[in-house]
Amino acid sequence: MLSKKPPMGFNTWNTFGNDISDEVIRTTADAMVNLGLKDAGYEYLVIDDCWSKRERDPETGKIVPDEIKFPNGMKSVSDYVHSKGLKFGMYSCAGTRTCADYPGSFDHEYLDAKTFAEYGADFLKYDFCYRPDFANGPLLYRKMSMALKASGREILFSACNWGSDEVEKWIRSTGAHMYRSTGDIFDAFRSMKEIALSQIEKINYSAFGCFNDMDMLTIGMYGNGNVAGKEENNNDIDYKTQFAVWCMFGCPLMLGGDIRKMNDFCLNLVKNKDFLRIDQDEECRPPFVVTRCGDSITFARVLSDNQLAILCVNFTDRDEWGRIYFENLGLTAASGVGLHMKDCYTGEDLGVVKEFWQTRIKPHDCRLFLCDLA
Ligand code: GAL
Repeated sequence: MLSKKPPMGFNTWNTFGNDISDEVIRTTADAMVNLGLKDAGYEYLVIDDCWSKRERDPETGKIVPDEIKFPNGMKSVSDYVHSKGLKFGMYSCAGTRTCADYPGSFDHEYLDAKTFAEYGADFLKYDFCYRPDFANGPLLYRKMSMALKASGREILFSACNWGSDEVEKWIRSTGAHMYRSTGDIFDAFRSMKEIALSQIEKINYSAFGCFNDMDMLTIGMYGNGNVAGKEENNNDIDYKTQFAVWCMFGCPLMLGGDIRKMNDFCLNLVKNKDFLRIDQDEECRPPFVVTRCGDSITFARVLSDNQLAILCVNFTDRDEWGRIYFENLGLTAASGVGLHMKDCYTGEDLGVVKEFWQTRIKPHDCRLFLCDLA
């Protein structure tokens, strides 16, 4: 089975957009290994939109890589990625054209799946632009899912229809391994917040086999790149909260910042073992809301090994209380059972806490705890 845990990796779109190349992929692959990201679990290196020529080859009907961006062809890039011990990802679209107006796979599903398999692809992100009106979304995803299965290679299928058509209700049945549940992220707190709040009610649909993908992370972009937030750039606190929310929700972790230039703060954040332990928990349970006071929210999540994660997020622009009454977790006062709480970010051991915990939390900030029953 391909997706027992939320997939982790890097995708070119957030930073590079159209500006991708053989060199970008090779140097990113090097950085993933040299900076310890591969060891931390980031294994897929995915090329998003804009990799091909504007038209298919008239003779073979195949999509052809852009010769200026990828002068050595895709197999060579894929071989390089594999030589680093990483997995290689490609992108296409269920409609006639991709979102950036390159050839889409509509009516060419089996040929394209075979082409991606020939490249040595291990992952396919499959977008939803330029879908003919008569075409049925579930059927389009079923078709590519089957085409990938028939290609002779094990390819992780990453559906991307932005949450439309109540995707969470049918996408698992198509064979997809993850599904984009929202519109495109941009590098601003407002965007991350909107995405996160929109999925609270839907996160129960996410589980092993097929995970809710809240889009690629923007950690490390600081206002640069293709999905920059313009005047609303994220700062370190915003990135910490973004990562904490994605991990708490058990989402795929696809880095979108330029990892070759990532600063130590961001690198340490995305490699934080406790955050990743929560994201990758083998039971893949959804979080639940314990306390909500406006946009100051406390989530809890049952983990394997009798552990529990708690996340207090202050999505507002003013100081707020992060608080949790353990009765709401099922830990009754009468039981005498408390929680041994560890702050995943600072590493601080809060010791055994019983019945109730609260603290002030700065605007946009959060506290993520890994807890043992005690
Ligand atoms: C959007 C998709 C983005 C990116 C882009 C490429 O539809 O949500 O993540 O893939 O297309 O054009």
